[in-house]
Amino acid sequence: MSTTSFTLHATDGKARTGVISTPRGEIRTPAFMPVGTAATVKAMLPEQVRSTGADILLGNTYHLMLRPTAERIARLGGLHQFMNWDRPILTDSGGFQVMSLADLRKLTEEGVSFRSHIDGSKHMLTPERSMEIQRLLGSDIVMCFDECPALPADRKRLEESMRLSMRWAQRSRDAFGDRPGHMLFGIQQGGLEPDLREESAKALTQIGFDGYAVGGLAVGEGQEAMFGCLDHAPDTLPVDKPRYLMGVGKPDDIVGAVKRGIDMMDCVLPTRSGRTGQAFTRRGVVNIKNARHADDPRPLDEHCSCPACTGYSRAYLHHVFRSHEMISGMLLTWHNLQYFQDIMDGMRGAIAEGRFDAWEAVFHAGRAEGDI
Ligand code: GUN
Ligand code: ZN
Repeated sequence: MSTTSFTLHATDGKARTGVISTPRGEIRTPAFMPVGTAATVKAMLPEQVRSTGADILLGNTYHLMLRPTAERIARLGGLHQFMNWDRPILTDSGGFQVMSLADLRKLTEEGVSFRSHIDGSKHMLTPERSMEIQRLLGSDIVMCFDECPALPADRKRLEESMRLSMRWAQRSRDAFGDRPGHMLFGIQQGGLEPDLREESAKALTQIGFDGYAVGGLAVGEGQEAMFGCLDHAPDTLPVDKPRYLMGVGKPDDIVGAVKRGIDMMDCVLPTRSGRTGQAFTRRGVVNIKNARHADDPRPLDEHCSCPACTGYSRAYLHHVFRSHEMISGMLLTWHNLQYFQDIMDGMRGAIAEGRFDAWEAVFHAGRAEGDI
């Protein structure tokens, strides 16, 4: 008997809304997952992240295996207890982060060997080791070990990489075994080649997963090319399982992805930008360090319920950013996470009521007006 499920409640065009149920709680979809790479959503307490409406966080195999190690986290009761977040956690499998962060990487059929970007120590990640680490962490949604080539890449490279990822998907499935209450997601690859996306979807569906990710996007191809891929890639995946677009994105990327049938997303953008003075608002991007905010008594976003917007002026946010005060990153991160979750909430309601297009028009109109 499975203790997890995915129930679709409504569709509007290709957009879907539903619920993923796990023993640690429900995940309302479409869902945005804040990134908690190093067992923390930077600058935020877990209860603050929860208050924005997040149902699930993302953690990273790569970072946690190096520091403080998966074995130490397991001894300390698992990642949920360690970071004081008792709701669902999805963990990425490590391959993607090895390729972007680690030194002296060597890719073979077996897996990837590399040196830590922290202390130069030698490590090896394989599908089997990645499944073991994600089990030690206690991850609720485990991602297959895959390889993600940077774009642009030639077709032969994309084809070979995708087929390797599909062999690793089978090994991930075998190593994961049967773990009631936990889900294993496959990851589709194939770059921008429709037939490779199709082949990858078939291979994954044949193996059988609890959910399917669209990987290999938002790696330098631009929004138009990404949407071009998303116009068909989600349709190749099973309708009755969650579809997760990895590493996306800006607010308009997220809205466009949901419109095309995506159910879950994650991105460092709201948290990272919050620490560099960039706020996402209903009227577009605001750079709080800009001198035009120095005397402005208005809130960042007049329609936002977050503490940064209800308690502080743009002038204050500008001042604490310029003064390098810690509260600057805290307030802007909180605001950005609140805004991203408000977008998800707005889309869930609109899809449920069959008015996604009207909601989307209002979303784009506010941004077109610009920040005034
Ligand atoms: N994060 C963003 N894109 C990817 C991908 O293609 N694979 C994995 N594992 N993680 C990602
Ligand atoms: Zn706000």
